[in-house]
Amino acid sequence: MSEIFGVVGAGTMGNGIAQVVARAGFDVVIRDVADEFLSRGMKAIDKSLQRDVDKERLSANEKSAIVGRIKTATSLEALKDAFIVVEAVTEDFDVKAEVFRALDTITKPEAILASNTSSISITKLGAATKRPDKVIGMHFMNPVPVMKLVEIINGYATMNAVTEKIVALTKQLDKVPCVVNDYPGFIANRILMPMINEAIYSLYEGVAGVKEIDTVMKLGMAHPMGPLQLADFIGLDTCYSILNVLCDGFGNPKYAPCPLLTNTVTAGKFGVKTGEGFYQYQTGNKELVVSSRFRS
Ligand SMILES: NC(=O)c1ccc[n+]([C@@H]2O[C@H](COP(=O)([O-])OP(=O)(O)OC[C@H]3O[C@@H](n4cnc5c(N)ncnc54)[C@H](O)[C@@H]3O)[C@@H](O)[C@H]2O)c1
Repeated sequence: MSEIFGVVGAGTMGNGIAQVVARAGFDVVIRDVADEFLSRGMKAIDKSLQRDVDKERLSANEKSAIVGRIKTATSLEALKDAFIVVEAVTEDFDVKAEVFRALDTITKPEAILASNTSSISITKLGAATKRPDKVIGMHFMNPVPVMKLVEIINGYATMNAVTEKIVALTKQLDKVPCVVNDYPGFIANRILMPMINEAIYSLYEGVAGVKEIDTVMKLGMAHPMGPLQLADFIGLDTCYSILNVLCDGFGNPKYAPCPLLTNTVTAGKFGVKTGEGFYQYQTGNKELVVSSRFRS
């Protein structure tokens, strides 16, 4: 039996990772907790590849071959022959640690266990296993098929040989690796999240409206998306979790989520995934939320 590339979690990031890995020629097994999440993930992969077929960037035969290399499973046992597993489950330490403990028992001792976490300590995840030297961060960006960067995070115990293997593997996936050390938020979110939080503070303090804040950053700083729209896209719940990881990890209240972000998340408004955040997405298009909460 050939070795497989395992992915745990078939959500936004997991299905994107599986697609990119299968497109690079690997046999993939995606594991999620229920069939409904797996079929939703496979539908997203199909839709994304079909867009490439429609734009003549991929043939219909190539698309079928890519989809054919992806298997799904609800049992972790299906990952026992994997040479690497990338975990992309919910951003929660306890949930991830449980997955790492189980993978440590099931996979071959030499298999590399990687996490796509946005901010959780790789060292702590490594400590949940008996192979911390083979635990590493492989932080893909959203949307995975489009974004070139993979932030590679060395935990305290990660072996150099493992980092080198992951750098080479990332290049094989046609992505650009960038190796960083394991401190809260790594580089990407340590810099991005305070900017997003500051944009939310500017709104909260009435300095400007949603549209104005995003326009200044788009046109003034040449950002493709304003920080409030980007926060909606990442998920306001995810932004909130990452800011708390930064705040706790550095013991510095400057990273504490803005009270307006806390309120928005508490009200169940997570951005694109729930249909409303700083903008509304119900119609399929982005519309400004016109409410007394957000002056515009
Ligand atoms: N969304 C982003 O923009 C983004 C970008 C980079 C990294 N990340 C990180 O990627 C990870 C996944 O984020 P997402 O946006 O794909 O989340 P998501 O909510 O879209 O998907 C998470 C998936 O994990 C599954 N899951 C939960 N527990 C599981 C378990 N024990 N075993 C198997 N599957 C399980 C869920 O059923 C769900 O399908 C998080 O760590 C997040 O911080 C997200």
